Amino acid sequence: MSKANKKERIDKIISSRGIASRSEAKLLVKKGQVALNGAIVTDSSVKADENDLITIDGKAVSQERYVYIMLNKPVGVVSATDDKRYKTVVDIIPDEFKRRNLFPAGRLDKDTTGFCLITDDGDFAHNILSPSKHITKTYIATLDSLIDYEEGRRCFEEGVVLKDGTVLLSAKLSLLDTSDKPVYKVIIKEGKYHQIKRMFASLGAKVVALERVAMGGLALDEALNPGESRLITADELKSIVENDERF
Ligand code: URA
Repeated sequence: MSKANKKERIDKIISSRGIASRSEAKLLVKKGQVALNGAIVTDSSVKADENDLITIDGKAVSQERYVYIMLNKPVGVVSATDDKRYKTVVDIIPDEFKRRNLFPAGRLDKDTTGFCLITDDGDFAHNILSPSKHITKTYIATLDSLIDYEEGRRCFEEGVVLKDGTVLLSAKLSLLDTSDKPVYKVIIKEGKYHQIKRMFASLGAKVVALERVAMGGLALDEALNPGESRLITADELKSIVENDERF
């Protein structure tokens, strides 16, 4: 059954989907590149709603107000929207996901890999990043040397005091592997600059590889190779907050 929605001008809908600015949207219409339910429109004041199919050059305009993308960030790419020297996480997502106001929700270092969430929804990003919300982030850290595991667990749980005096919130540490370089899982509830590296530095160890494997209750999709991305479903999005293992 179709929904009864408020109709809006077609140029407004196109710009609200992050495809073009309002004036660019008007131009697209004027040039005959926009169709409404299969018929070219040349007047931007024509109105449409969610039940209508809008296309630009034959490609459907998403009905979703915001987009949420899971990227498996590779090494060497920066968590930014633009950079003079390096490729950004926004540069490497496929064109079909691209919108004007995309940004990474939270920063990963250039040499950190894994789950990078890219969106154009500022309120959502604020909600999952705000330290007061305590949404967890899970990392796998490979170290150059073993640490005293019991001491590490206790320090992380009590809240590491960084060299600059910053007192961190309680974090969880578990040992995953010692067969080659020691590998640990760390769950933190905030996202300070170089946090994981500085936490291990406080125990005298250097992080040689770091991967984010989950944000709240949503794990990185193992089917995504480094550099690959996909859209996050509505249920997955909810699970970030709802399935988060609070501690
Ligand atoms: N902690 C770090 O040290 N680096 C990251 O990229 C993320 C968390």
